[in-house]
Amino acid sequence: MGKERRVSLVTFENLTKVYQMGDETVRALDGVQLRIDPGEFVAILGPSGSGKSTLMHILGFMDSPTSGKLHFEGKEVAGIGRSTRSWYRANRIGFVFQAFNLLPRLSVTDNVVLPLVYSRSGIGDRKGKALAALEKVGMGHRARHLPSQLSGGERQRAAIARALVNHPSLILADEPTGNLDSQNVGRIMELFRRLSDEGQTLVVVTHDEQVATYARRIIRMLDGRIVEDTPNAS
Ligand SMILES: Nc1ncnc2c1ncn2[C@@H]1O[C@H](COP(=O)(O)OP(=O)(O)O)[C@@H](O)[C@H]1O
Ligand SMILES: [Mg+2]
Repeated sequence: MGKERRVSLVTFENLTKVYQMGDETVRALDGVQLRIDPGEFVAILGPSGSGKSTLMHILGFMDSPTSGKLHFEGKEVAGIGRSTRSWYRANRIGFVFQAFNLLPRLSVTDNVVLPLVYSRSGIGDRKGKALAALEKVGMGHRARHLPSQLSGGERQRAAIARALVNHPSLILADEPTGNLDSQNVGRIMELFRRLSDEGQTLVVVTHDEQVATYARRIIRMLDGRIVEDTPNAS
């Protein structure tokens, strides 16, 4: 009583996702219960096919569950319309992918500016925000380069700057180190750790135990279920 209860960032209540492929039914998510609070750094770990990407797609408003409830920033998401969902996707979530997904003909700065395309700020202001995001990930000196002129680790830093540029409440990364050598894996995960120390909420999906050790909480998935959920002290 009288104890203040923080609003979670995300909660899943008994969430399922079922794919029907002809006669075959795939339960990609099977009764998932999950709560993520603001400021957490979570790794979702599991073998291929365990449901990690499906979970991430639902977390990122790219897909909807077959059943169950999803709350984001205190609101039930099923209860909001399609345009509100795309607003969340564009404004509240930053995405980082294995393949970087930078546009090859645009400079690093122009790639980072992209998520601000619907913002009301002028172009000078947008470029200023992009540069600030690039500085934050140690890429200010590569702002005018093209993606092809960067190393793999630098490309992923640029992609992380793009994910950060509109100050999302959640950054979602699906196998963000899958295309990097071991030295760059460490650098990118240390960068995530620093962003987490600065208050950014992060969810990183990976099949790699080593990558997961950088997170503060490790959730293990198997066959569409959460089989373990533990704090990580390392
Ligand atoms: N669009 C889809 N249609 C049919 N089955 C799918 C689809 N997406 C994923 N699946 C199936 O759902 C299960 C979980 O997939 P996924 O979430 O991609 O796992 P992970 O990311 O852990 O490898 C797998 O069995 C996969 O084959
Ligand atoms: Mg996957």
